[in-house]
Amino acid sequence: MLIKNVHIQNDDQTKDVRIENGQFVNISPSIEATNGEKVIDATDKLMLPPFVDPHVHLDATQTAGDPEWNQSGTLFDGIRIWSERKQKLTVEDVKARAKKAIKIQVANGIQFIRSHVDVTDPNLTALKALIEVRDEIKDQVELQLVAFPQEGILSFPHGKELMTEAADMGADVIGGIPHFEFTHEYAVASLQFLMKLAEQKGKLVDVHCDEIDDPQSRSLETLATLALESGMGDKVTASHTTAMGSYNDAYAYKLFRLLKMSHINFIANPLVNTNLGGRFDTYPKRRGMTRVKELNADGINVAFGEDDLKDPWYPMGNGNMLDPVEMGIHVGHLMGYDDIMNSYKFVTVNAAKAMHVTDHYGIEVGKPADCIIMNNDNFYNALNERSEILYSIHNGNVLVETEPKKVHNHFKF
Ligand code: FE2
Repeated sequence: MLIKNVHIQNDDQTKDVRIENGQFVNISPSIEATNGEKVIDATDKLMLPPFVDPHVHLDATQTAGDPEWNQSGTLFDGIRIWSERKQKLTVEDVKARAKKAIKIQVANGIQFIRSHVDVTDPNLTALKALIEVRDEIKDQVELQLVAFPQEGILSFPHGKELMTEAADMGADVIGGIPHFEFTHEYAVASLQFLMKLAEQKGKLVDVHCDEIDDPQSRSLETLATLALESGMGDKVTASHTTAMGSYNDAYAYKLFRLLKMSHINFIANPLVNTNLGGRFDTYPKRRGMTRVKELNADGINVAFGEDDLKDPWYPMGNGNMLDPVEMGIHVGHLMGYDDIMNSYKFVTVNAAKAMHVTDHYGIEVGKPADCIIMNNDNFYNALNERSEILYSIHNGNVLVETEPKKVHNHFKF
């Protein structure tokens, strides 16, 4: 396959891209098509590495309103409603809903997904279901599963045993939720436990960390210290860290030194953070998002996730990674022209780095031919105009093809 005249990652100059045997084999200013070679004319189109959703909950997806809608809009009501819905989970139920959501995501150019899976369930039903899904879709989508203790590790009966069992069953990543543990001591102990578990089992780490508008919620400093001292470094991700939006600047300044030294990744979820954040405020209301602009400026890896697609925490969600990008750059004041042009990185290369898949991700000769082609010439225009994913290509195979929208104007000026 030969893709002609495409702008790769906002490059003003166009390139031709040849794909053979599932790999990028040549990326040059001009390549002649061979006899019978499939040619895609990508003049004025943008090629990006595929979208990555590094933070989503596929076990809870598509359950919004069941058994009730989250009327208060708080994280804690979301957890309460989910714990009721969880009672009627079956493997078939989880698989059907997860696959429905993944299909929507793939249609929007996503090829890599990290899903948290609630393992505070003595039967581990959702994890069993999502392991089956992971295997069934593996040729088309890379799905990582996080053993996520939604109701706590030390604050839930047999929490430690369930986490260990989930790791042994095949979870790729070890999760945590220190801000939901009963006490600060439990929060610290939960982080010590989960980091040890990840080290022993050879897993990555992704913790729901300080997802609360409480400036006293400081689990991040413990997680970063453990990542630094264990040498786990960039295998560790702190998701949410919304409390950082409420830290005083003196503490944040001191914290950033540690964050940089630790090499951990950050994942913000701009849509859901702004929905759940500030819910206990009157006015002024906090924005709910972590310090994306400052982390990014300091060279710390930050990615964006969708977090929720129609579940007790967020009634919206459409699988389109342009939405968290749009919200993130607004809330984070990342609205300079260069900020907007580069904002695709939050849901592509930065997210791939957080997922630790960069050895086989990116538009480079010799890597698997995974990419998307958007219906515009650069990301500023593509984001602003919500351009279509004309092609999503995975291992050299076209996963998705979209016909551009046609508008027939009948006005006269
Ligand atoms: Fe989450």
